[in-house]
Amino acid sequence: MDAPRDRAFDAAALKREFPGLADPGLHYLDNAATAQMPEVVLAALRRFEIETRANVHECVHRRARAATEAYEGARRGVARFLHAAPDEVVFTAGATAALNLLAHGLEASLREGDEILLSVLEHHSNLVPWQQLARRRGVTLRFLPMTPDGRLDLDWLESEITPRCRLVALTHCSNVTGALTDVRRVVAAAHAVGARVALDGAQRAPHGPVDVRRLDIDFYAFAGHKAYGPTGIGVLWGRRELIAAMPPLMTGGQMIDRVTLESASFRAPPRRFEAGTPPIAAAIGLGVALDWMRALPWPAIQRHELALTRRILDGLATFPGIRVLGPADTRDRRGVVTFAVDGVSAEEVCRALDRGGVALRGGYHCAQPLVRAFGVDGAARASLAPYVTDADVDALLDGIGRLMAGRTRGAPRGRLRRNPAPRRRPE
Ligand code: ALA
Repeated sequence: MDAPRDRAFDAAALKREFPGLADPGLHYLDNAATAQMPEVVLAALRRFEIETRANVHECVHRRARAATEAYEGARRGVARFLHAAPDEVVFTAGATAALNLLAHGLEASLREGDEILLSVLEHHSNLVPWQQLARRRGVTLRFLPMTPDGRLDLDWLESEITPRCRLVALTHCSNVTGALTDVRRVVAAAHAVGARVALDGAQRAPHGPVDVRRLDIDFYAFAGHKAYGPTGIGVLWGRRELIAAMPPLMTGGQMIDRVTLESASFRAPPRRFEAGTPPIAAAIGLGVALDWMRALPWPAIQRHELALTRRILDGLATFPGIRVLGPADTRDRRGVVTFAVDGVSAEEVCRALDRGGVALRGGYHCAQPLVRAFGVDGAARASLAPYVTDADVDALLDGIGRLMAGRTRGAPRGRLRRNPAPRRRPE
């Protein structure tokens, strides 16, 4: 069955903009791990390396001026995508680097007994840096639980955000369940006690522009390579006055103001946080990718992705022994479907699907506490992007059908543990 066609959007036509997807035998459904780059980004990278390659800042020759203008132009592109000011946009090596930078930057302002609210849905990049900080500073970490279908259980917000809470750091969209966070509710509860709100946008940014002002959040982190840009680049956005109070994580060239043999003073953000030669080409590629994204028809793309998500959910539901780790509906979610097959490891599922050209990811998805909370030791994941077509989903469901047919012909059956009962909701 085909997803309903949307005249405003043609995924197959969009796919032709991606040279990396030219092979009709490849069904790339690992977009939540790394998305592909459109020709316009590849061309910008090549153009930079040939026509503009030079180091940025503090150099007057024309190539360096052109490189600096392209690099700072990319920062303006990120700012347009986030509806932010360019001087609030810090280039990092990725989302993980952005969240580590944030944890380091806030550390000195936290005292023993302060609290940070996270959730069981977090990717390790929005968990481990806070664990390390908590150990060093005597800060207490609290965790929002999830609903049985893998959404943040926001009924716990009021009881988990105490007057000691300084920061609420949550995923904007789960990389395992695909569930979107109701940011408005989170911000209202956090700001009521004076806590800041940081969002890990690694899985949300690839699904359309973000308005950090309208969300009324304080920090936002995302990665370039999941948002149709190069690897090795990411972004930390923070409100100007907040990042101005943060110390740098890395020190050295480019980020200093004045240096003596004994000491150094640092530049204002964002350059304070960009020590050394930055990933210039990658930043330029990201700027182009985000401008390319801004021109796409997102409402139509979202309808397309959710129609495909519905097809995947319906298709998986026809096989007894397959369990989806996440919502069974398409409300407030993005196109990420993670599933466990009774008696077949995630790696075996991915290998079997790879034989039909279907690229899935399997394992814990950098979210061990979350995957374990579902009572499984790993799961396979199909993740969508605007260029994913009905034919890709057909290949996925055909491959699952073959796997399940082979399994009923004699593969040993394992046992799926059930999702543990969710914590009792506060009265
Ligand atoms: N963090 C990446 C993912 O979710 C790799 O797949």
